[in-house]
Amino acid sequence: MDRQAPLLAGDEPGRAHAFAEALARHGPTDAVVACFRALVLDHYRAFGRRMPWRETTDPYRILVSEVMLQQTQVDRVRPRYGLFLEAFPTVEALAAASPSEVLMAWQGLGYNRRALALQSAAARIVAEHDGRIPDDPAVLVTLPGIGPATAAAIAVYAFNRPEVLIETNVRRVFLHCFFPDREGVRDAELLPLVRRALDTARPREWYWALMDYGTHLAKTLPNPNRRSAHHAVQARFEGSRRQLRGRVLAVLLGSAPLSLGEIAGAVGAEPDRLEPVLARLAEEGFIAEEGLFYRIRDGPGTDQLK
Ligand code: ADE
Repeated sequence: MDRQAPLLAGDEPGRAHAFAEALARHGPTDAVVACFRALVLDHYRAFGRRMPWRETTDPYRILVSEVMLQQTQVDRVRPRYGLFLEAFPTVEALAAASPSEVLMAWQGLGYNRRALALQSAAARIVAEHDGRIPDDPAVLVTLPGIGPATAAAIAVYAFNRPEVLIETNVRRVFLHCFFPDREGVRDAELLPLVRRALDTARPREWYWALMDYGTHLAKTLPNPNRRSAHHAVQARFEGSRRQLRGRVLAVLLGSAPLSLGEIAGAVGAEPDRLEPVLARLAEEGFIAEEGLFYRIRDGPGTDQLK
């Protein structure tokens, strides 16, 4: 585990080559799909990564990890994950916490909206599902902050259900392997292949393997996701509105209510630039305005997240 992967895509270049040749000659026949599965699993056996959320099948812990991993890289999530679970060890504890406590534990992960959505999801799970995380993706997607990919990932990793899961790494693998010279490939075209390739006996291990293979490809190839019709480039963080939002929340989290001028001084931004950011944070339920002061909003107000 965690060994350095070779530069070639595919632990076994011979098999990768045979797969590509057979695909070009015959198309995605059952035998070609079986060869692909073996390629991905071989790579996983040799280079599969260990991660704390792969050591558990506790659905609450999986839920937390999948929301954290939505837009944040594995290495940034690792150190935060255990701390968050120490602060909120159960879905009930998370549901009962104040939004500012949750935002505090979320610091460093970015996209704070996800933290409040996760807490709203926890509250709904306690109120409507007896504190048990649903195992059906169709139910999971009705919860705040849980889209189709996160819902499928929870069903797979927590409940070992053989669901179709298409997210960045999985998409990259299928684009690279099955559409080597096509642009603008849509997820609808990938979906039947993802379904056929699925190892229904061991969905959990299969998707770990696919995600690791996707990460491996990302390191060794120019990003093949560019060829997806769904590819979006992440905006630059430094100097961004997103960065400013994070700073504002960090300042307010540890503080009594502050005025516009005080926040501007603390985050190093012009009040004119700051004002619309504060208005948006208030609209979204992160903060509240009290006269000329702003504070982190506690209590209700996060339900509008979905
Ligand atoms: N293992 C389990 N879930 C994962 C994810 N979302 N990304 C990478 N590895 C994972």
